[in-house]
Amino acid sequence: MQKTIEKIIKSHEGEKGSLIPILQDVQRECGYISEEAVAAIAKDVKISEHEIYGVATFYAQFRFTKPGDHLIKVCVGTACHVRGNSLNLMHIKKILGIDEGEITFDYRFGLETVNCLGACALAPLVTVDDEYYGNFSPIKLKKILSKYAKEKAGAEDEED
Ligand code: FES
Repeated sequence: MQKTIEKIIKSHEGEKGSLIPILQDVQRECGYISEEAVAAIAKDVKISEHEIYGVATFYAQFRFTKPGDHLIKVCVGTACHVRGNSLNLMHIKKILGIDEGEITFDYRFGLETVNCLGACALAPLVTVDDEYYGNFSPIKLKKILSKYAKEKAGAEDEED
């Protein structure tokens, strides 16, 4: 990860107002802004770590904790709400044992809510990474979670 961060910082060398673009690139490449990244950026951009946190926390887009392997987004927009996604959200929270903005203890899943995923015809809608799961229901959740569990098991078999 250190090399990735160094590469990103270097790509913005000499740029005025590069802090936000650097933070955006780090988050895109690494998934979050680590303490290690903040220290490296502070050293290079010559801004204190405190100032970097001050700027970054102003923008809701930045996260400072490692995300889960798979991000589950539950739409709570009007169409999805009307078609029962609040109950789906409650069910997902219960099954995973986490709240919005949290990740499971094994880092496998993160959970977020969004106001509209732009596919209201599929309501109630839940996404996992880039996959859309329309007409979502608790039964689908079981299948989806087992799909990702199998993928992980498959990946571990390949590593052996
Ligand atoms: S309200 Fe859920 S996709 Fe638009």
